[in-house]
Amino acid sequence: MSVPYALLNRLADGKFHSGESLGCALGISRSAVWKQMQGLAAWQLDVQSVKGRGYRLVGGLDLLQRDTILAGLGDAAAKLDSLHVAAELDSTNRYLLDEARVHPGRVSACLAEFQSAGRGRRGRSWHSPFAANLCLSLSWPFSEGAGALSGLSLGIGLAVARSLQGLGAVGLGLKWPNDILAGGAKLGGVLIEVVGEAGGPCQVVIGIGLNVAMPPTAGAGIEQAWTDLRRLLGRAPERSRLAGAVLAELLQFLLRFEREGFAPFHADWSALDAYKEQAVRVLLPRGEYTGRWCGVDVDGIGLVQAEDGLRRVVAGDVSLRSAS
Ligand code: BTN
Repeated sequence: MSVPYALLNRLADGKFHSGESLGCALGISRSAVWKQMQGLAAWQLDVQSVKGRGYRLVGGLDLLQRDTILAGLGDAAAKLDSLHVAAELDSTNRYLLDEARVHPGRVSACLAEFQSAGRGRRGRSWHSPFAANLCLSLSWPFSEGAGALSGLSLGIGLAVARSLQGLGAVGLGLKWPNDILAGGAKLGGVLIEVVGEAGGPCQVVIGIGLNVAMPPTAGAGIEQAWTDLRRLLGRAPERSRLAGAVLAELLQFLLRFEREGFAPFHADWSALDAYKEQAVRVLLPRGEYTGRWCGVDVDGIGLVQAEDGLRRVVAGDVSLRSAS
């Protein structure tokens, strides 16, 4: 069932709308409006129906506005070739990966109010209720191949953290290789996927999932400790402004990263390293080991002091857990 976006756009203001006025605006009958309203429960949206007043979406909805996102980009807008804002997609990463196969070399961004098959790291899925959080992807060409991407996911986490600090967020941390934390709980994650050659030109799709205002019912299903910006800032930031700020910071970061790599970002990343000097468990595709987290080197490689010596941890199918 696809999302009734036109209806939701009308209801987004959180005010009462009569079935008749909605039907008129959408060019459908009152009973068709009623039917669509019944379907909204499946989208975890709270619709109130009051006789004589009509329908209202409790709390309203903060829908993404393409113009506001673009306005928030400032000078960085010149770097972006395209911006796609969708009501619903399977995955914003998948959308840009497909685009990159057909039109390599573009810098494109894509956001969706809802992903039906959102992807997380290590083959997991990423669930986010309709219009609650941020599901954003950015596609960027690299001429020097995947070998030049060391430290990319760390730098992306740092760029996201900087944009959130700009909105007043404090207490942020970065968990190698790509989680954004606040108060030790997960605020967002990064998934990087690549199309192209290992040693030649490639296109990188950077996917970011950021918790903005997670409905408690949806959050109850998340296995790990999580938080959202509403909790952190005391109010949910406007999602389009947030998206513009995050994208602007990402574009600026990528312009420098493609010239200089991770090294210039090493000190700032280390300052936010959430596991500094902590006991950690390193989960490998097969097996695990424990040690003390010693931060990252200038290429973004993780360093763990294990019983048998200093081990270097390369991102990929590796995950880090606190062992304390
Ligand atoms: C993680 O596992 O922590 C990474 C999650 C990344 C989720 C984002 S949401 C936007 C983009 N599209 C996807 O399908 N996944 C990423």
